[in-house]
Amino acid sequence: MSSVSVLSTSSFRTAARPSNYIHLVARSYSGLTVAKLGGSQFVHAHNSPFTYTPKRLISSTPQNQIKEFFPPPQTSGVKEVESAWAHPVYTESQMRNVAIAHREATDWADWVALGTVRMFRWGMDLVTVYKHAEPGEELAARYKMTEKKWMHRFIFLETVAGVPGMVGGMLRHLRSLRRMKRDNGWIETLLEEAFNERMHLLTFLKIAEPGWFMRLMVLGAQGVFFNGFFLSYLISPRICHRFVGYLEEEAVITYTRAIEELEAGKLPEWEALEAPQIAVQYWKMPEGNRTMKDLLMYIRADEAKHREVNHTLGNLQQAIDPNPYQTKYRDPTREHPSKGIENLRGTGWERKDIF
Ligand SMILES: [Fe+2]
Ligand SMILES: [Fe+2]
Repeated sequence: MSSVSVLSTSSFRTAARPSNYIHLVARSYSGLTVAKLGGSQFVHAHNSPFTYTPKRLISSTPQNQIKEFFPPPQTSGVKEVESAWAHPVYTESQMRNVAIAHREATDWADWVALGTVRMFRWGMDLVTVYKHAEPGEELAARYKMTEKKWMHRFIFLETVAGVPGMVGGMLRHLRSLRRMKRDNGWIETLLEEAFNERMHLLTFLKIAEPGWFMRLMVLGAQGVFFNGFFLSYLISPRICHRFVGYLEEEAVITYTRAIEELEAGKLPEWEALEAPQIAVQYWKMPEGNRTMKDLLMYIRADEAKHREVNHTLGNLQQAIDPNPYQTKYRDPTREHPSKGIENLRGTGWERKDIF
């Protein structure tokens, strides 16, 4: 890819990595401005996420004003910071098998969870002018999704998605301390989910930079959502896990649609875009499978896993049952929940099938 374009009026910037040089195309309302920038400004090291120093290659901001979001500490003694949670390896065929799924609501608690998610989705779509075309339907131009609009959506949603696992993990941690009892493995899985969502966010932030309006929205959303989820989890953790299960159903739908648009050639700027190094290391992306599409496949698989985990946790007796994802089973020949996506269940595991 030798040229990429971005709206200069945007408070949001997208980046791509060409091999030699890049044409910066700043499109204004009055016409086109083209600037050609030398490749030497865009050198980045491919050694570790800690020392990786990417430059935003496409931006309406002058190079000297572009700041690194999470630069590594400048200490001579530190080579790399390792993650405590190693991500399970997904194979390409496993990721291709990830599908949209829906767990039918069976009781009032499920309906509360599903209704809340549907309300959120409706509000989000309304505010962001998003609509998905039904087969054969031709949408108005304002609904056309661009790389930038998808990135806005991903970044905002990932800042929200990282909250529930942390709140659930924190409250179970506090309960364990308070009651001086074991938690039976739930805390780690919940915190790991929050970490995984934050990795989704950090990965996208290596590709694009949110402006002040987005930051304000994130701040407001976090204030409301954290407190709302915190209170809800105190009242009914079971409904909260079901709520996250339904939320993750929507996340799988969102990433599936983005992947489909990318495959259909509707997102040309992403076709030659490489996944950032932070993603290559975290997901252990193999050589030859490190494109933007691959990245979206990995993230969608993670969301499908969260969908399964939370629907499963929503099926369990919250205070008694051990976490089935941290359990050593007496009968290893019997199929049971695992950390990877090799036996992914779209609608979660039923309690009777686990214990
Ligand atoms: Fe996510
Ligand atoms: Fe998720």
